[in-house]
Amino acid sequence: MSGLPVGPAASHAFGAPARTLRTIVRGEGAALWDAAGRRFVDLGATHGVGNLGASHPEVVAAIRRQAGELLYLGTGFDVPVRREFLARLTALLPPSLDRVFLSNSGTEAVEAAIKFARAATGRPKVVAALRGFHGRTLGALSATARKEFRDGFEPLVPGFVHVPFNDPAALRAAVDESTALVLLEPVQGEGGVHPATRDFLEAARARTLETGSLLGFDEVQTGLGRTGRLFAFERWGIVPDLLTLAKSLAGGVPIGATVATEAVEARFRGSHHSTFGGAPLACAAGVAALEVTVRERLAERAERLGRAALDRLAHLPTERVREVRGVGLMIGIELRERAAPYLARLEERGFLAIPAGPAVIRLLPPLVIGEDDLAAGLEAVERVLGDG
Ligand SMILES: Cc1ncc(COP(=O)(O)O)c(C=O)c1O
Repeated sequence: MSGLPVGPAASHAFGAPARTLRTIVRGEGAALWDAAGRRFVDLGATHGVGNLGASHPEVVAAIRRQAGELLYLGTGFDVPVRREFLARLTALLPPSLDRVFLSNSGTEAVEAAIKFARAATGRPKVVAALRGFHGRTLGALSATARKEFRDGFEPLVPGFVHVPFNDPAALRAAVDESTALVLLEPVQGEGGVHPATRDFLEAARARTLETGSLLGFDEVQTGLGRTGRLFAFERWGIVPDLLTLAKSLAGGVPIGATVATEAVEARFRGSHHSTFGGAPLACAAGVAALEVTVRERLAERAERLGRAALDRLAHLPTERVREVRGVGLMIGIELRERAAPYLARLEERGFLAIPAGPAVIRLLPPLVIGEDDLAAGLEAVERVLGDG
């Protein structure tokens, strides 16, 4: 016995939700177990962190090995595992995206992208999309237009403007010679699972080239196979100048990556750094995660399972469901009413899905989810939405 007081973990967590949190003590693949031994199927994967599921054995082995060798060492040293991670990551990207800044989270990856774009172009303006989500630090939050995330924190960073998502004309009008960066999610995740249209992304690419601005894709949620491609932008064949990754990049260990072109790095004037960014532990986990993602063809798996899931969900009752949309294993079921009661009913049945805004049930299962668990999850969705 440690002698420490014992109580619900959430009781000391700043900002913990008022409701009692379910205690989860163990996970394997898409399965999570509570303290009483009840099994749940994870259909949310911690907003996309768990592409490889909980505690993937190869990631765990890599962490164990690396922890015994070298747990931390900053970027003032050359560390082989960091070199290997960066080489493996860039080998998966188009050749122009070959400079990587490592940090510890999605919001840090976005902060770096904003700073790199401003410092490389010498311009102030950042154009992002309404309904988008880019993180909660002040720069990333400034790129996030949604009131519920901004309230209480203003004034935010000046120079940010927002245009309606999938409105090419509005985007073209907003981007000018004072624009440093156009920052977009190829599929808006927190905003309700809205894939971009080809027109919109093509307009963003063309207008940024015309005006000498940079195009940044925030793939913190969509990256690493989630949308049926290793990187969502591959679906449209539009290559950005800056790319942000995080969540599943290191198989569940905190990491963020801001990938840039050589041209962005060459024009960058200034200083940016992160003490823990590029830590050997995260890099070792990252090497293992990339290895599994590629070897197991998880992007293709997401594409196949996602298509079948969308076909099946097309038959949901329309009086309750406004629209079902998604790409790969990133699926949003928009209701005509609040999603929370249905999420609670799914949880009662043993399926843990997540919301995306008030009316959307979001399914982001681990890409390794068993087909039987996914089918059972979809059946549970049909049942709870079909109940009178
Ligand atoms: C597209 C996108 N960008 C940035 C973030 C922020 O990432 P983090 O919570 O790791 O800071 C998120 C998190 O949901 C996200 O979905």
